Amino acid sequence: GEPRLVDKFGRVATDLRVSLTDKCNLRCQYCMPAEGIDPLPHQILLNDDEINRLIHIGVQNLGIEEVRFTGGEPLLRKGLEGIVERTAALRTWSGQKPDISLTTNGLGLKHRAGKLKAAGLDRVNLSMDTASRETYAAMTRRDRFEDARAGARAAADAGLTPVKVNAVLMHGINDKDAPDLLLESLVSGYSLRFIEYMPLGPRGQWKRNEIITADDILGMLGEAFDLTARPAAERGPAPAELWDVAAGEVDGVGHEAGTVGIIGSVTRPFCGNCDRTRLTADGQIRDCLFANTETDLRGALRGGASDEEIADLWRDAMWGKQAGHGSDNPAFLNPTRPMSAIGG
Ligand code: GTP
Ligand code: 5AD
Ligand code: SF4
Repeated sequence: GEPRLVDKFGRVATDLRVSLTDKCNLRCQYCMPAEGIDPLPHQILLNDDEINRLIHIGVQNLGIEEVRFTGGEPLLRKGLEGIVERTAALRTWSGQKPDISLTTNGLGLKHRAGKLKAAGLDRVNLSMDTASRETYAAMTRRDRFEDARAGARAAADAGLTPVKVNAVLMHGINDKDAPDLLLESLVSGYSLRFIEYMPLGPRGQWKRNEIITADDILGMLGEAFDLTARPAAERGPAPAELWDVAAGEVDGVGHEAGTVGIIGSVTRPFCGNCDRTRLTADGQIRDCLFANTETDLRGALRGGASDEEIADLWRDAMWGKQAGHGSDNPAFLNPTRPMSAIGG
């Protein structure tokens, strides 16, 4: 049969997202309740060797080309540098080092960016929802703005580029911050992407009216910046649609030309081009961010299964992937895990 991770709709998953922990040192309003979420029990978490074995199977047996580490907050995983180093030693079917990236809040990255680069990390995506320290504290419930900014700077200085910044806008918290954040990002040389808030929780149910849509965001940015859409054909499987921003001036502050992206998961879904497969910190395959079913690889791994047996389970998992996330369907159910344990 087809050795790669294909589904019934002909999509091929070549991008593996690995969640390394469900813990986090922030409490972002769109992701976690103030009191946090009970962590996964230690004994079901994969150890570093188990994670590297599954990544190896993904690259060797299944044709994975890109590996992204997520969390919770992946910098909380002590073995991160080692896991990256062993991933960087793998070769894809076309003989390349896999593209290795990290999605992080950036706290403490200042001290680790150089080591991660040396281990083989290519680039980072950093969450930063505002350019204001007060708003950052309100959104994340922690006063760590300067630490996160230092992390972004360190990543850029270490060559973990392009540094992409992810921002989620929420009504009444940072919905007025989009232009300032774009200005900051252009001045700093980061690629900013706005992500439509996916009202999955924390623990709550889907509340569609809370979404600040891609159109809303474009409207706000268009008042301060000169934007030109990039051709749709350039986009590929990337979730972000990109706009070129012309050089200009906002409130007396000049900025270079750059780009801004919008990830419209809800109002402009990109499921038809999805190339992702996800591994949770406790060894489950999710065929979709919003999936309601998972496939257990941990049991097979700990039960002594061979690489090819594990690869077969993984192929079966992806074959059953739905055409789309279906959040517009009245029967839509929230995913089985909180966002913090899926990794975005
Ligand atoms: P690159 O552009 O290659 O860096 O990847 P990315 O944008 O997917 O990476 P990142 O981890 O920064 O993801 C940004 C956000 O995009 C996530 O937090 C999600 O909100 C959203 N996202 C990522 N992957 C998916 C996906 O498969 N489906 C949906 N609906 N949203 C996704
Ligand atoms: N809606 C949209 N994006 C989210 N993220 C976390 N929770 C949500 C949500 N409910 C994003 C964060 C981070 C990435 C890992 O996931 O902004 O950049
Ligand atoms: Fe892929 Fe599911 Fe994300 Fe759609 S929502 S792009 S199918 S992971």
